[in-house]
Amino acid sequence: MPDQVIQVSAELNYEVVIGRGLMGRLPLLISGATRVAIIHAPTLQAQAQALSQSLNDQNFEVTLIALPDAEAAKSASVVETCWTVLGVQGFTRSDVVVGLGGGATTDLAGFVASTWLRGIKVIQVPTTLLAMVDAGVGGKTGINTDAGKNLVGAFHSPSGVLCDLEFLTSLNNEDLVAGMAEVVKVGFTSDPEILKIIQSDVSGAIDPTGAVIQELVRRAVQVKADVVSADFKESRNGQALGREVLNYGHTFGHAVEREENYRWRHGAAISVGMCFVAELARQSGRLSDQDADLHFSILEGLGLPTTYASGHWEDLFEAMHMDKKARGSVIRFVVLEGIGRPVAWDGPDPALLAAAYDAISRHQ
Ligand code: GLY
Repeated sequence: MPDQVIQVSAELNYEVVIGRGLMGRLPLLISGATRVAIIHAPTLQAQAQALSQSLNDQNFEVTLIALPDAEAAKSASVVETCWTVLGVQGFTRSDVVVGLGGGATTDLAGFVASTWLRGIKVIQVPTTLLAMVDAGVGGKTGINTDAGKNLVGAFHSPSGVLCDLEFLTSLNNEDLVAGMAEVVKVGFTSDPEILKIIQSDVSGAIDPTGAVIQELVRRAVQVKADVVSADFKESRNGQALGREVLNYGHTFGHAVEREENYRWRHGAAISVGMCFVAELARQSGRLSDQDADLHFSILEGLGLPTTYASGHWEDLFEAMHMDKKARGSVIRFVVLEGIGRPVAWDGPDPALLAAAYDAISRHQ
């Protein structure tokens, strides 16, 4: 399948390229730079070194910065270490950061780039499905602090994104399937064809070597590109849904992640979160049984969780009040009035929320 290119117009105009064997495109994306910092996940040392060698051969001065694993990368002390390295290496405004890894790496690399000299170029090379279809595209960057996850950050558009599907072949099945939850999310909110493709070929959808996954990534990235091009800073007010549509399933999903002390994969929590809002919409008469049931069948078919243990409602309800999308004391949800018809819903009756939780609860 040929490479596919999707345009984003948000703060910067840039391209997201989807294909296989894309690293040869990097020199053109960083042309004009003298120094390049490849900020990478610890598991990608060999790939980072190979990339460094090929950029050295083209006369770039390359610095490798290996991060701690996963969310441990997203700390103020890691940012400070990166700033120190950039300072020692003399990074100027025309130099470039490359983020090579999953969502934690692209969030951190983007934040370092957004703050160094008040903002230098970052090229994102997401290596997980989740990062390809969500974190690596769209310019949200950030770190975690004692106050919570992603509460410190900046909007900083990448200057280019390379989604090289070859990286997916070394991803374990759980991570691949968890990333698919974000693909399903945009299927429900914005591109129902995604749901049809997954329904008709589940094993193709999670075959990292196949053409089906490339089509799914292309469709999911296209939705994200359109959304961030229209509302880069998530600044739509009132009932209009801009970038907030990407939060479908996330209000309850974030609460589950918190309740599980962040040991669940993000995609697994979002899967349960989508089932929760599907029940909420069904029980309030907004969504048909057929469309609500489709959430459970598609997500279960992929091997994603659709239920959560009973007995946690008070904690989950409390956690939802602390979600970034809450306004004052009002919890805000994205719900569907049909497939592809998302709307905002502020402050549903707590009894309805409890009933939706009951419907997805596993009663032991
Ligand atoms: N991950 C949600 C967003 O980019 O807005």
